[in-house]
Amino acid sequence: YVVEKGNYKHFMEKEMHEQPEVIQHTLAHYVDFASGKIRFKEKLPFDFADLNRIAMSACGTAYYAGVVAKYWFEKLARIPVEIDVASEFRYREMPMEKGGLALFISQSGETADTLACLRYCRAQGQHIASIVNVTESTIARESDAIFPTLAGPEIGVASTKAFTCQLSVLLALAIMAGRARGTITEQEEQSYTQALSELPKFIRQALKGSDDIAALAHDLSKVKHVLYLGRGTNFPLAMEGALKLKEISYIHAEGYAAGELKHGPIALIDETMPVVVIAPDDPSYEKTVSNMQEVAARDGKIILITDQSGADKNALEDCQTIVMPTVPDIIAPIVFALPVQLLAYHTANLMGTDVDQPRNLAKSVTVE
Ligand code: G6P
Repeated sequence: YVVEKGNYKHFMEKEMHEQPEVIQHTLAHYVDFASGKIRFKEKLPFDFADLNRIAMSACGTAYYAGVVAKYWFEKLARIPVEIDVASEFRYREMPMEKGGLALFISQSGETADTLACLRYCRAQGQHIASIVNVTESTIARESDAIFPTLAGPEIGVASTKAFTCQLSVLLALAIMAGRARGTITEQEEQSYTQALSELPKFIRQALKGSDDIAALAHDLSKVKHVLYLGRGTNFPLAMEGALKLKEISYIHAEGYAAGELKHGPIALIDETMPVVVIAPDDPSYEKTVSNMQEVAARDGKIILITDQSGADKNALEDCQTIVMPTVPDIIAPIVFALPVQLLAYHTANLMGTDVDQPRNLAKSVTVE
């Protein structure tokens, strides 16, 4: 089956614009919007109510989806989550109590290190579940339960639509787990599924900011280093943003927890290093604002990705702002993934790199 670029310049651009549709398609597999309940057609080979812990592993962008999900599972379902990159997880000889859940996230379902973790967890007597985009893959075949993302073929090496679909599935699972464990009420389930049902609309709105973000990318395309900051679920998004930028534009970028700024990266701040801050006006916003003040006091240039009320509260003068739609906190990491992708895309596009096939990278890493 041949996938065409259509009117888009790159597959990555096309795949970013497919997100409202493929997220809707994916969610329809997990959510009954009429009743506001999570429903997954297949019977699960484990019960979320019986779990003491979930161990997750993945590589690259899929790993950052898992880090976001750790916050969701711990908050909504009160299950401790272990997460590690697969190349570390597989060698660290983690003790595992029999009957636990091991969850793997992989677009291709063929990543060698992730597969090796799966086999390690199998030998440790874990239930094996995977979130995969390719349901005929090796990881899918070796799993007891498969949670598909229905993103369609992803051609761009830098993952975009697979990432937001992974996040959508993970949030649906965290809500399901919360209900099974009685840590969220039926009303809460309904308000979370209501938020999920609005995702395609919010993502469409986020995509409308593409031209404004392209304008900001002009400055970014001239720098050598970029720092990304975020708190809570915005921390893994900061790491994902830095990964996207370095993968396709070859600009050095690092993602940091905003609270760690003063433990190292602040030493690098000067007028030559832009700082991208991902911060909707959620309960951690004020703390992040004080981190921005620390950056501004050292002449750092800030690009703030926030919502309208975050923008209204921000009094910093030398700050460029990307204003996102106002969305429920729980789905913010999915919506805020969009400006992060667009910023990397437009920067790389201006620099004229091979966006879909960046140097030295492969879509699927099937060797160690
Ligand atoms: C490669 C790709 C990334 C991807 C990672 C994991 O590094 O370039 O975009 O996130 O592999 O791939 P997977 O197929 O396991 O999600």
